[in-house]
This record gives sequence, C-alpha cells and structure tokens, in this order.
Amino acid sequence: MLTLEEIQDLHAAHVQPGFGTTTPDELLFLQSTIHRFKPKRFLEIGTASGLTTGFIARFTEDAGGNHVTTLDTDTRFFGDHSKPVGYLASEIYSGDAVKVHIETGKSSLDLSTVDGPWDMAFVDADHAHPWPTLDTLAVAAHLTGPRIVLHHDLQLFRRHLWFRGTGPRALFNETPEKFRHAHPANGWNMFYIDLNMPDETWSEVAANALCMPWTARPSISRRTRDRFHTMIQTNNGIGLANLFSETVRLNRWSLARRVIFAIRFQLAKMRNP
Ligand SMILES: C[S@@+](CC[C@H](N)C(=O)[O-])C[C@H]1O[C@@H](n2cnc3c(N)ncnc32)[C@H](O)[C@@H]1O
Repeated sequence: MLTLEEIQDLHAAHVQPGFGTTTPDELLFLQSTIHRFKPKRFLEIGTASGLTTGFIARFTEDAGGNHVTTLDTDTRFFGDHSKPVGYLASEIYSGDAVKVHIETGKSSLDLSTVDGPWDMAFVDADHAHPWPTLDTLAVAAHLTGPRIVLHHDLQLFRRHLWFRGTGPRALFNETPEKFRHAHPANGWNMFYIDLNMPDETWSEVAANALCMPWTARPSISRRTRDRFHTMIQTNNGIGLANLFSETVRLNRWSLARRVIFAIRFQLAKMRNP
C-alpha cells in the first residue's frame, strides 16, 4: 500500500491548478476502501485527466484486482484541451497487472456497451443534482461483488456556490445512515454508498433524491430522459421510472430560459476562450 507521503509526492508531480481532481487524503481513503472490499474490477464515471484513474489502478493491483474501466462524455481534458481525457492514467500507473480501459464520449447510460460488470465504482462526473443519483442508478445494474459506490465532492454545494453541485449531497442525505459512509478526508468530501440494501430501500432513496429540486443546467434532454426512463423501468420498476419522468417535467426549462442560458454560455466562452 502507498503511504500518504508517497501519494502526496506522486500527486504533486502531476497535478495542476484547475484539474478538479482528488486530494492526497481522499486518495488515501480510496486506497483503504479498495483494500477493504478488494474489487477485481473497478469502474470510474468521470475520467478528466486520469489522475485518479491511475491511482485507482495502483490500489486495485495492490488489492489483487485486474481491471479498471473509466468513462467520460468528453474526449479532451477540460483542464488542458491539448490533452486527451485520461492521459495521466498511464503516467501514474505503468504496471500491466491491471488493464485500464478508457472510454470517451460515453456516460453511465452507455454501460451496457462497455466491458462490465464491475465490483466497485467511483462516481465523479456531473455534480449537479440529479446526476450523481442517476449515475448511481445506472451503475447499480452493473455491479456485482461488494457493490460499493464511492462519490466525490460532498462539500461542493458549499465550497463553490456557482457550481450548484448539490447532487452528491442530495443522494447522501436520502441514504439511510446504515448504508452510507462519509470520511473526514478533505473536510468530509468523500463518501460511499453500500448498495447491499433491499431493492425497496434503494428505490426509496432514489425516489426521495429525485424529488428534491434539480440544479442541473439546463435540465436533461428528451432523449436522455427516455433512455433513463427505460433503464429505470428495467432495473427498478415502472413506479420509479414514472416518478423520474414526472421530476423531469417539473424541472424542465422553458424555451426562453434555454435561449438565455445558451447566449450567456456563449458569452462566457468568448470571454474565457
Ligand atoms: C470532476 S471531473 C472528474 C475528475 C476525475 N474523476 C479525477 O478525480 O481526476 C468530471 C468529469 O466528468 C465528465 N462528465 C461530465 N458529465 C458527465 C456524464 N454525465 N457522464 C460521464 N462523464 C461526465 C467531465 O467531462 C469531466 O471530465
């Protein structure tokens, strides 16, 4: 296992401001969780630079695992557009005991086209509500073994107000204490959910979270709604699927709001190319 000092040195050698990645103490928590549950196959949603992916691969190898899949909707890393998503993974982990599979242009809705199932997951993609809940619903159907889902940025809602990153918090708040575990790393910024709970309990957690007002901007598209509806109906039943579609309707953006958002987004991009 890596010591905190070893993690700090490796982290410092690769991280740069604006990378939006895990901190060394969060990585130490990731390492201890991987060692505790010993996943053979690990899944990450939200790759970005691939810094955490590389550490996960190292921890997975130490714990006897052999596979890490990571996926991201983007193909270029948001912190440095000259670099592909996941470019740091092979710099942090150069071994061959663990196969690291980077999938770009994909979200949790595409998991059935990727090489699952997995034993454990780390969700660190879109932090606006309800994305962490939707990602967890999607991931749950592809988990075997320990069925532990780690989440990042429990404190994002407070630390970066403009992000409106309430998604991890909404999911955490609705999960019964028995099935959630937060850790003091980086000011209680990481937690995991133990999906070894009765199906009805998990459906209730997801229903409660989905019914909290959404902060995703703009709200999800019709096509994404339809895909999630089908996925939720298949895995969790028609009741939760219909509730989900109703929450999409309640959180829908009007045309005027979408146009204003698009104009403001373009202006912001022109100011910060
Ligand atoms: C906070 S960064 C991930 C950081 C990374 N896990 C790490 O620790 O270095 C979030 C990433 O999620 C990606 N993303 C955003 N929405 C997504 C979605 N719905 N599905 C998959 N990836 C998404 C973004 O492109 C971005 O690269």
